[in-house]
Amino acid sequence: VQDKRNPKFGVWAPHWGKWVVDYARETPAAPYQLIEDVIVSAERVGFDSALIAQHTVNPKNPAWEIAEAWTAAAATAAVTKRIEIIAAIKPRLYHPVVLAKMALGIEEISQGRFAINFVNAWFKPELEDSGIGFPPHDERYAYGAEWLSVVKRLISGERVTHNGAHFHIDDYRLSPASLHRQRPLIYSGGESEPARELATQLADTWLINGQPLEEVRAKIADVSTRTRDGNPLQFGLAGFVVARETDAEAESALAELVKLAPNPSQRSAMSGKIDPDAVMHKTSAKYPWVVGANGGIAPGFVGSYERVARRIQEFYDIGITAFLLSFYPLIEEQERFAREIIPRVAELIAEREEALV
Ligand SMILES: Cc1cc2nc3c(=O)[nH]c(=O)nc-3n(C[C@H](O)[C@H](O)[C@H](O)COP(=O)(O)O)c2cc1C
Repeated sequence: VQDKRNPKFGVWAPHWGKWVVDYARETPAAPYQLIEDVIVSAERVGFDSALIAQHTVNPKNPAWEIAEAWTAAAATAAVTKRIEIIAAIKPRLYHPVVLAKMALGIEEISQGRFAINFVNAWFKPELEDSGIGFPPHDERYAYGAEWLSVVKRLISGERVTHNGAHFHIDDYRLSPASLHRQRPLIYSGGESEPARELATQLADTWLINGQPLEEVRAKIADVSTRTRDGNPLQFGLAGFVVARETDAEAESALAELVKLAPNPSQRSAMSGKIDPDAVMHKTSAKYPWVVGANGGIAPGFVGSYERVARRIQEFYDIGITAFLLSFYPLIEEQERFAREIIPRVAELIAEREEALV
């Protein structure tokens, strides 16, 4: 389904260091202040949204500092005016009534700019070692779908009575609901069959990990033909951007970053800790991720300003309307993107739409 609006551009708040880390010189850290700096700068230069990932402990290394997603979302909502704040949530960490109340709280703080990103968890130690538990993949999704169905009704201001396999809720209603719109928006990520079905039934936007265009096209084709109620599902894509005046400059900037990318021993630190049934990780093993948040350079946002703008337009043409991007250095490069790429994409889309008239 084609959205006729220009795409929305978002940034990832950093969650493992600054994405690219010179391990010889620094210990990766993503403290709250860094998140605030990135989001305030993103808003100032014209990004539409900011995504805060949820990891209670850092999956790359538990000793690396990582900020708490929901308190960071509330705090950044209070220091911004326009940008959408999206906080990821793993359903097993909170009871749905408590989480819905928190979401409505940040909806109020942000005056109608809050969204949740439903993520069903893949990092085993976080949930196992806390005693919360990590059931098998599809059982976790059954729990997650029931959990999200309750959250969605509560954040819509409905009075909820629910008797399901996991939750029993009796005549519950949260007040205030959103004072600005029907409810906060719902994004979701995850590629498995139950993740696709959950997105179809319960989300507003399905987020896809960075990967090549043909893979993304096939996934959108699969999910957009499913039956659902309400507005058509929207699609979002993650990716890491290296944009310069020329392709050669971008390639050499990337080569410099790759020299600092995690070495094999740092990568293998996560082996055995990832749910072996997590489909997203099987996909990302097929494509070079290299640097950045989810999927890194796999979608191909590396090159001259023209090349990167054209690539974004190609993804837009197959149905991606939200881009969740990461950069290094964080602030300098997101500001370059806003200056050089966003106007070029708008021009390309306007030209193409004029040609269609
Ligand atoms: C854009 C995007 C953001 C994500 N953010 C998080 C996150 O903050 N925390 C997390 O544990 N997983 C995150 N995930 C991972 C997925 O939600 C999911 O756990 C993973 O894809 C495994 O599920 P699957 O088997 O359905 O693919 C994210 C995925 C995507 C595409």
